[in-house]
Order: sequence, then C-alpha cells, then structure tokens
Amino acid sequence: MSLTPPTSKTSGDKFGSRVGFILAAAGSAVGLGNIWRFPYSAAENGGAAFVLLYLGCVVIIGVPVLLAELSMGRASGKNAVGAFEALDPEGSRRWRWVGGLGVVTGFAILSFYSVVAGWTLSYLGRALTGAFGEPLSAAQSGALFESVIGSPVESVLMAGGFLLLTAAVVRGGVSGGIERASKVLMPAFFVMLVVLAVRAVTLPGGAAGVRYLFEPDFSALTATSVMSAMGQALFSLSLGMGGMITYGAYLQKHERLGTAGVAVALFDTGVAIIAGLMVFPTLFAVGVDPGKGGPGLVFVAMPTIFDQLPAGQAFGVAFFALLVVAAWTSTISLLEVVVAYLVGERGWKRETAVWGATAGCFALAVPSALSQGAVPALGEGALGKSFLDLMSILFGNVALTVGALAITVFVGWRWGARKALDEMNGLPLGAAWVVAVKVVCPLATAGVMIYILATGNFF
Ligand code: PHE
Repeated sequence: MSLTPPTSKTSGDKFGSRVGFILAAAGSAVGLGNIWRFPYSAAENGGAAFVLLYLGCVVIIGVPVLLAELSMGRASGKNAVGAFEALDPEGSRRWRWVGGLGVVTGFAILSFYSVVAGWTLSYLGRALTGAFGEPLSAAQSGALFESVIGSPVESVLMAGGFLLLTAAVVRGGVSGGIERASKVLMPAFFVMLVVLAVRAVTLPGGAAGVRYLFEPDFSALTATSVMSAMGQALFSLSLGMGGMITYGAYLQKHERLGTAGVAVALFDTGVAIIAGLMVFPTLFAVGVDPGKGGPGLVFVAMPTIFDQLPAGQAFGVAFFALLVVAAWTSTISLLEVVVAYLVGERGWKRETAVWGATAGCFALAVPSALSQGAVPALGEGALGKSFLDLMSILFGNVALTVGALAITVFVGWRWGARKALDEMNGLPLGAAWVVAVKVVCPLATAGVMIYILATGNFF
C-alpha cells in the first residue's frame, strides 16, 4: 500500500496512488452484479455457454467502453456532464445530455440497488444472530426471503441504512473517503471470496457445480441471452453512466490508463467467475437446482445449506458480509457520480451535495423497497413487473446501453479516438481499440436498442 499522504479535500482531490485507483474502480465494478446477478443470469441462460458469451462481451464491448470513459475523465478532469463540454472540439454544450442521462441513471440505479443492498444487511444481521444454524428447508428459506423483502419497515430502514453508510464514505472525498475505504474493503472482500470459493469447490459433490460453470451447452442460448450478456457486461463494469468518467478524472496524469483499465476489467471478471465457483458447487453439493433460483438464488438457496456445512455459521456470516462489502464500494461510486456533478456543475458544497443526493435517493428507494410485497400495487405495475424490476430494466439495462452508445459515438467521432489514444499514453492494440470504439461498440449497442424497440422484449 502506498504511504502517499492524502491530498486536499477541496478542488483537485485525486487518488493518491495507482493501487488506490484500481481498488476504488474495481470496487465500483465488483458488486451485487457479480455475486447476485451474474450467477442467476448464468443459471437462467444455461450456465457455461452464457459465461463464454459474457467473456466475449467484456472483451469486445466492456474494455473498449471502459477505456473510452477513463480517457474522457482524465483528459477533461471533469464530472460526467462537464467532460462532454470540455472535450467537445467546438466547446459546444450539445453533448452534455449524455452526461446528464448518466447522472440520472446513477441516481436511479443507486435507489434500487440500495434496496437489494439493504437485504444483504438484513441477512448479515440474521447470520450473525445464528438464524441459519438450524436446518432450513427451501420452502422455509423462500418464506424467509419473502418476509424480509416484503416487510415495509425493515426493507425501507435497511435501504436507508445502506445509503447512510454510502454517504459516510463519500463525504470524506476522493482520497480521504473513497480511496481509504476501498483499500480496506477490497482486500477484505477478496480474502473472504477466495476462502468461500475454496470451501465450496472442495465440498463433496461440488465438482458438478464446477462443470456447470465451465462445460457449455450452447443450445440453451437465445437472442435474449446475448442481450443479457451485454447488459450484464455494462452493468458489471459500471459503464454507460459516466461512473468511469468521474473516477478517471481523479487519476493522476502519469498513470497509464490502458494498464489500469485492463486491471479493473480482469479483476471484475475474475470476481464474477470466482463467485460462480462459490455459488454453484455449494448448490450442487446439497442438490439445489440453480436454474430454478431466479433473482432469489443467492438469498434463498444459499441459506438452506449453511447448517449442513462444517463451520456453517461462519460461512453464512462471511457470505453476507461479502455481499455487503461488494455492494458498498459500488454504491459509493454511484453516489460520487451525482455528487461530482452537483459540485462541479452546480457549485454545491460537497457536504450539501452528499446529503441532498442521499435524501433524494432515499425518497426514490422507498417505492422500490415497498414493491416487493409490502404494497401490492407497486408489485405489479406496468408490464406485470414490480417497481424495482422496472427501475432495474430501465436504468440498469436500457439507459446504460443508450449511454454506452452515446459515449462511444462521442469519443469515436466527435472528440476523436486519436485524442483519446494520446490521453492513454500508449495502448497496446490501440488500432483495435479505435475500431471497437468507432464501429463495433456503437453497432452492438444500437443493435440491442433496435432489438428492444422492435420486439418489446426487455431482456
Ligand atoms: N458494477 C456494479 C455491480 O456489478 C453496479 C454498478 C453499475 C455500479 C453502474 C456503478 C455503476 O454490482
């Protein structure tokens, strides 16, 4: 770890070291997307074939968009909105809407994400008090999940609590808050993850789970699988909403963006795979079918097995602590996008921006929290989806895809891929990146949008 003293908390606050940046950006990327959403998306799409598809999306779309965002941030030194004006060759304000959409998207994702993050807090509390020490049938576990997410008081309070945890870090600024927290949380996260995965793959019967993750069955893939894989790659790498523009702005000029960006992508992908190695062998070891889990997979299936494992209580506590930490470093980056905008473009004080954004987000989190059973009207709004699901589809998928499309068009065709490459001071395979950012990413993201509009099929 670097011993660089924290820089000033006011203007020009930057990450003190490259390791600090990588941990913070990887912290943003690694989240519930990796441990909660990735396993059940993979399970719904037939396991290993989806994993391969996902890896392809990370390489072809994820890494290029990540580098595009980081170079925009560092070249401009601005927040998600200001960067589009600062880098416009004519200084025009015409592209600011892309950043504006990003800020709105970040705010909206934070609202529903903190609800799910709140569930992880609830479960951590239960694991700590020994609730999973006794045999729990799948039906009982399902009922427990429904009572946790359906409780109006608990779900709202926990989402609020999670937002407070997030605000407490973000108000400390970049080096003194985000970087400091990431340097503790990410190593702790990684140690817990590896211990849990090793435990899982060595369980009797766990090998079937490993095969499930690595032996592809391509017949399970559909057009929707391709859409989900791409949406998942954007979501998992925190792309398409200016998060990496914001973090890129805090990266010092001498750091190489290519290395830092690839490190973040590798870390995020590695964590998703290791999370699969933790979840699937555990499920197979006790005979739970992962394909039937859906979004409740890690919340419903995992608690049924803790009592059957040696040191099951510790396993349960570590598992939910892992989810809490993963979610926390992601909510920090979501809030920072909004705060950086309010400070940079609206001239708010950091403290005011943090509490203002947190309060607003809490207000929007309430309907999501109440949509899981507490208030039936919110549970089946438009399209038979709950308010939380709608937020997740609209902002966690569609808005990120639109954002990634607009960002790559801006970088490739308006600001200029050459200038972005210069900012990266040397990128191996730079020519391939230029093709990706000018052609492949815009076509792929536009293709997904057309598919959605034409079929009305939202992932
Ligand atoms: N990448 C985070 C995850 O995988 C979610 C996220 C999306 C965070 C967008 C920030 C921005 O859980």
